Amino acid sequence: MSKAQPGMSMERADIAFEVNGAAVSVCVPPVRRLSSVLRDELRLTGTKIGCDAGDCGACTVLVDGEPVCACLMSVASAAGTVVTTVEGLANGRLSALQASFLDHGAAQCGICTPGLLIAATALLDREPNPSETEVQDALGGVLCRCTGYRKIVAAVMDAGRFASELSTDGIAPHPPAGTFSPYSDGEKDEAPALASPSPRLSRGEGKGEGQHQLQRLDLDLDRRMPISGHAVGSSPIRLDGLPKVTGGEKFGGDSFPADALAVLVVRSPHHHARFAFGDLDAWVKTRPGIVGVFTAADIPGKNSFGVIAPFADQPALAEGFSRFRGEAVALVAGEREAILDLDLSDFPVRWTELPYLLQPCEAQAGGAQLIHENRPANLLTTGFVERGDPEAALSGAAFVVSGAIDTSYVEHAYIEPEAGHAYMDGGTLVVVACTQAPYMDRDDVAKVLGLAADKVRIVPTATGGGFGSKLDVSLQPLIGLVAMKTGWPAALAYTRNESMISTTKRHPAEMKATIGADADGRVTGMVFAGDFNTGAYASWGPTVANRVPVHASGPYATPNYRAEGRAIHTNGPISGAFRGFGVPQATIMQETLYDELSEKLGLDRLDFRLKNCLRNGSETVTGQRLEAGVGIAECLEALRPHWTRALADAEKFNSANDSRKRGVGVASCWYGCGNTSLPNPSTIRVGISATGDVVLHQGAVDIGQGSNTVIAQICADALGLPLEKFRLKSADTAITPDAGKTSASRQTFVTGKAAEKAGGALREIMLRFANVSEKAAIALDGTSLVIREGEATRHIDLSTLKADADGFVFRAEESYDPPTLPLDAKGQGKPYAVYGYGAQIAELEVDLKLGTVKLIKITAAHDVGKAINPLLAEGQIEGGIAQGIGMALMEEYIPGRTENLHDYLIPTIGDVPPIETILIEVPDPEGPFGAKGLGEHVLIPTAPAILNAIRHATGVLVTKIPATPSRIRAAIRDKEAGR
Ligand code: FES
Ligand code: FES
Repeated sequence: MSKAQPGMSMERADIAFEVNGAAVSVCVPPVRRLSSVLRDELRLTGTKIGCDAGDCGACTVLVDGEPVCACLMSVASAAGTVVTTVEGLANGRLSALQASFLDHGAAQCGICTPGLLIAATALLDREPNPSETEVQDALGGVLCRCTGYRKIVAAVMDAGRFASELSTDGIAPHPPAGTFSPYSDGEKDEAPALASPSPRLSRGEGKGEGQHQLQRLDLDLDRRMPISGHAVGSSPIRLDGLPKVTGGEKFGGDSFPADALAVLVVRSPHHHARFAFGDLDAWVKTRPGIVGVFTAADIPGKNSFGVIAPFADQPALAEGFSRFRGEAVALVAGEREAILDLDLSDFPVRWTELPYLLQPCEAQAGGAQLIHENRPANLLTTGFVERGDPEAALSGAAFVVSGAIDTSYVEHAYIEPEAGHAYMDGGTLVVVACTQAPYMDRDDVAKVLGLAADKVRIVPTATGGGFGSKLDVSLQPLIGLVAMKTGWPAALAYTRNESMISTTKRHPAEMKATIGADADGRVTGMVFAGDFNTGAYASWGPTVANRVPVHASGPYATPNYRAEGRAIHTNGPISGAFRGFGVPQATIMQETLYDELSEKLGLDRLDFRLKNCLRNGSETVTGQRLEAGVGIAECLEALRPHWTRALADAEKFNSANDSRKRGVGVASCWYGCGNTSLPNPSTIRVGISATGDVVLHQGAVDIGQGSNTVIAQICADALGLPLEKFRLKSADTAITPDAGKTSASRQTFVTGKAAEKAGGALREIMLRFANVSEKAAIALDGTSLVIREGEATRHIDLSTLKADADGFVFRAEESYDPPTLPLDAKGQGKPYAVYGYGAQIAELEVDLKLGTVKLIKITAAHDVGKAINPLLAEGQIEGGIAQGIGMALMEEYIPGRTENLHDYLIPTIGDVPPIETILIEVPDPEGPFGAKGLGEHVLIPTAPAILNAIRHATGVLVTKIPATPSRIRAAIRDKEAGR
């Protein structure tokens, strides 16, 4: 297939301005967005696109010294100005602000970082020592979904302390000036080691080894190492941190090949509809630059994907009818300019809208139409756990409380919409895209496109936030289809609206529960029932339905228990994985009832929780005996002084104020790390090169949480070599072994354990080679392996040893799969090998007249077993809390109404109060160095703690989440009216 000439319908003009100190001139339509010109014409991809609507601030640049959203500014308006992008901040050395960001761990995924750095640079230029309020004001227009902002605020306020000590030498230069062709693919450096290197893949395309190696050379990683020199327990600057602050990091949309076809997705505008195409060939022929239209009829494989194979049900392109608003039905591929100008209003598709069901109660009503013929009553699946005799326990309880709570769809709202490109490398389809699960992507893409799994190579780019949604494939099979069918590379970056309408959400839940306690305040029984709106396709619905009943008791001993979780199909957005897999919703139900129960018992709310919490030797609701490592009591005890102080503060405030009242709430969490009763192995390969590097094949995708660094730290200590000797080979299904998906708080535990085993095995191999005992110390000195035992020192010249195909002279590869047992028909068994625990206190103030909530402080104690990297752990906690704040107070995705970041609100820098983190280390014998997972846990207690604090302040519990001002006001009015 040959490509037509692009349409040139838009008038072009030569426009000159200055960028990062160099004069540039571009010939483009004058109305084109400055952000687009910077990225696509000048290849300054450090400027990010999160919304193209002025809502996210990711595109912030300086124009004549003032921060502006480059997506809202036409390039014509930039004529004659001086523009500074993130690539212009470093001048041979990092700016003090960039160094401060690295030092504070203020960049997690890094997609928001360029916008924040630019906005903060403008502030620091006029106020070198800003107050917290000034920082919040200056950065208020830039959203971050990962960090919770606290480390960003600290980094900006602390920037003055940083002389720039970090060299940027060796960072690939960004093109500062001159004339550039659109989507130029110059500036490539060496390809990764592959048997047949792809001409299109460079280390700059992903979180490649090159970037990590450069930073290793430039940064003093030992700065924050403890005296002992151990990597575990220290907080070195994250190994993948440098490109996040220079603009060098390549996310899904940052490395499109010059000759890539652009792809547009035609989507259903209806919740449920039949559709038929008109004459697609004729439509294509009349549009210059359009290469083709592809529909389900073009899919060569099985047009059905899904993260859980037995439930796989989602077509890559719908066939004849669509089940939700936003479902993909066709692809249009063409020259980039033609696609940019394309008007889809006359695309030949006829829609017939059909009746639709958006609520689980409608979908479950007798006679309701079936969304999938093979799923009676629109029930996807049910999870169930039963222990003892809950009815007898509740009827015999001294105190019983019951309640019902509904939650809403929550959107992941990562700042990077899905993006990537695909191309054919001989007979292999290569997909370069953001993701959380490269091997799962590979298998689904292969299935849909009718390829063998080894004929699909997934190369993850940096991923600008995921939080669960990027576990499911999105654009991968679509761009793969275009690349296969046309032979041309195919590129696609979702718009914000497209990302929001087509990808997964947190399940809305309708929950009921009853909990009883004896007169001494011991919980005796609980029943829980939750209906989870799983939307049009299965995605992770089965996981949510199964995980919720296991966790709905909270981390408390509950001898008599029944919990049921049902995943119910509707024509709503697909609900999938989102940090906690349904547990955050269920915890709201349980923890708010715990407050009511402690009040009935006349017990302090913290004491009541301590009285009932799991301890070593306790049995869970699945009958699992927890022998060791149960740290919830330690978390609650650590909160006690804060609880006492906060209650006293609130009482004092409330005695002096009538219209505003303070409240304090507490809530706990527990969360089983990894898959529920299913295998989820990780494999890690590590070796020593002939040049004296430790090369870690680390296939766990770091989506900002820090696994690149944490797993290397674990491996370093198990191996007994310093972290700065490590080079990372990041995830790539053609290179790195499968380390599983980045989900369910499993990477530090599961992949970390594999890294611990691999490091230990490699050490053993080298010691055996040197014929010394396990007490020997090893070191690398250039190409020399130095082994010391007692008085004896031996040098082994690595360059003289024979290297294998990976360049290793010594190598080890180890796998780890957590030991779990299946659940029986009553949900009894050992679903997880390791649990993590936590508890949080929320302090807040409610305006009784307006219903508004002002958060004052969150105090969070989390048992991480062993803090492998305390700074990254804190960052996870702060980021999770921010998402919990959003869930509690503002986030409600409504199809058709809140499909952008203007109408869908997520916390801004001013919405997150000071957070005090307390890291508790109760080691788990199973985890690497005793470590447990943390990523999901941190969000779980926040919303219930906030709701309990609102109740403490006002006397009312809001039962429809989020607790918006109007809902809080309505609840107060009802209470005042005695309703
Ligand atoms: S991309 Fe410009 S504000 Fe979001
Ligand atoms: S670090 Fe801010 S969005 Fe990921």
